[in-house]
Amino acid sequence: MMSEKALQSKRIVLCVTGSIAAYKAVSLLRTLIEEGAEVSVVMTSSATQFVAPLTFEVLSGRPVLQRLFADVHPMPHLKVTEDADLILVAPATANCLAKCALGLADDLLGTLFVAARCPIVMAPAMDGDMWDYPALAAHVRTLRERGVVVLEPEDGPLASGLTGKGRLPAEHMILEAVRARLARQRDWAGQRVLVSAGPTREPIDAVRFITNASSGKMGYAMAEAAAQRGAEVVLVSGPTALPPPPNVTCVPVLTAEEMHQELESRFAWSTVLVMTAAVGDFRPRHPSSAKTKKHEWTGEPLELERTPDILQSLSQKRTHHVLVGFAAESEDLLANGRKKLHQKNLDLLVVNRITGPQSAFGNETNEVILLPRDGTPIQVERLPKRILADRILDTIREQCIGPPASRSQQPHEGIRRIQ
Ligand code: C5P
Repeated sequence: MMSEKALQSKRIVLCVTGSIAAYKAVSLLRTLIEEGAEVSVVMTSSATQFVAPLTFEVLSGRPVLQRLFADVHPMPHLKVTEDADLILVAPATANCLAKCALGLADDLLGTLFVAARCPIVMAPAMDGDMWDYPALAAHVRTLRERGVVVLEPEDGPLASGLTGKGRLPAEHMILEAVRARLARQRDWAGQRVLVSAGPTREPIDAVRFITNASSGKMGYAMAEAAAQRGAEVVLVSGPTALPPPPNVTCVPVLTAEEMHQELESRFAWSTVLVMTAAVGDFRPRHPSSAKTKKHEWTGEPLELERTPDILQSLSQKRTHHVLVGFAAESEDLLANGRKKLHQKNLDLLVVNRITGPQSAFGNETNEVILLPRDGTPIQVERLPKRILADRILDTIREQCIGPPASRSQQPHEGIRRIQ
């Protein structure tokens, strides 16, 4: 028997906008069809400057929709969105992101966005400076807050001749996001997830402190993914430079002690604890509340003491909870991971390597091993942290929580309207 393809019979609207990366949408269309999807293509008029509609027409076997008023359907924006399981915009230009965030409906693409009821994935492509433009960053935030999956563009050589962040994400990343969005509508609804993220900061005196290189990106990605999948999420975060993820309650902390208190006070409320934070293991035993003057230091070593092991201490108080830890290891990843999993009485440990150029710390991507308490280790390929977060949530769901309530029991399964 033939196994079912990943996108079998899924009705996808592929919107192509006017970027040089429009040529990559041709290959994307072929792959979507190979995966079993039924694809209708919408092109903006600038997209037709880069690739002829005929190319998409022949490959999709359907007319390409370009105009609001004069195509095959009298009201194409309504017909197309009514039937769609997912809208994929690839490449999405700066103009397209702005238009969709503002809900401007002056062409077919803008209008079908406003009319859409299905999940939406956008894969941006533009020059690096454009991606960094503050107004665009605000539009991306708005779209994400409304439940649209806006992928991060990739770093690399750009059509302008410059190198930077702005390339269309690789095809397999776009496909992964499409599959993920279709599979994981609101499968975490009903869960209350407590996530810790970032480093902690242990004071030496009024201005100096001990910290570590954690950026917080993995924890923020976990919080964002869980919230998008319907969970209620509280994120207790040490100091980071990251904006709070949409629809997540953020609790800022500095020290391990503060993080411990904030997590402990919410532990009974939570159903799942995801301990992504790189909690400092040591702190100065006698921090000074004033700034120690240079000449006052007589050469005595800084006396340190252990901080509380938050995860260990909460795992002793667990009742119904699912506990997930993260371990940063430089050697013997599996053996050290297993030891930690049992020592801290966890359901799942995510082990990542912290040495080498591809270290988990600060990077956009991460390569991990998932160690479930009652299963075999799962080696996950290198992925952007946001996509990895969904994989980790999948594993927690499958191995530690069990299948979600049936769709009709879920409190809210509608996809938010973009307007
Ligand atoms: O023992 P190790 O620090 O490698 O364990 C890592 C896991 O334990 C992480 O999930 C981390 O957030 C958590 N941890 C903690 N309190 C500490 C140190 C680590 O909760 N003081």
